Amino acid sequence: MSEAIIEKVRHFAESHFADDGSGHDWWHVHRVWNMAKHLADAEGADRTIVEIAALLHDVADWKLNQDESQGMNTIRELLAGDLAPATVDRICDIISKVSFKGAGVETPTDTLEGKVVQDADRLDALGAVGIARTFAYGGNRGRLIHHPDQPPQLHGSFEAYKNNQGPSTNHFYEKLLLLKDRMNTGTAKQIAEERHRFMESYLDHFFKEWNGEL
Ligand code: ADP
Ligand code: NI
Repeated sequence: MSEAIIEKVRHFAESHFADDGSGHDWWHVHRVWNMAKHLADAEGADRTIVEIAALLHDVADWKLNQDESQGMNTIRELLAGDLAPATVDRICDIISKVSFKGAGVETPTDTLEGKVVQDADRLDALGAVGIARTFAYGGNRGRLIHHPDQPPQLHGSFEAYKNNQGPSTNHFYEKLLLLKDRMNTGTAKQIAEERHRFMESYLDHFFKEWNGEL
């Protein structure tokens, strides 16, 4: 039963994100799905809920939608015929809480399944893949790679974070380097450590090259 629903949702997600050029393409979803399965098994979370929420986690994302409620309606319509209303509500609740909203803004998740999906999504923002996604997103939105006179800001509100137009390098200080300490599960914290170190070493190289030291 759950295998058929997961297959249907996978199929939907694959076509929905096929053409995205902002680092939120199907392969991002695929990586998050795989990582979410791994974390779910390690942490003892419900696999079906986690897999469906992971596959749909970016459908209603504020960065990709003019109207987030439209994305949520799409998710509800997709799942309504196959799952009990309470299960659909659980999945939508996880998806509505997954996103990062600024350095000073808390993004709590109240279920183990929500923690697992949020960690899986955040792990894909880190490391070598995370670096590639950051510059892909920046290019997609017309941002500069770096600007020495535009320092990073630690946004205190979701509104300020949303309206930010800074260069892509700022994103490391405004979000990515903060994620290691904001992982929910022990399994994700461990994976985040190595990816964090790699980003630090990348940035060290980047600024040495920028300053003519390498
Ligand atoms: P979240 O919901 O936590 O933001 P996503 O799956 O939507 O997670 O992916 C977020 C990714 O999009 C970031 O990790 C980064 O790669 C890219 N991104 C988002 N905002 C910016 C930004 N202002 N500058 C550069 N990249 C960004
Ligand atoms: Ni995502």
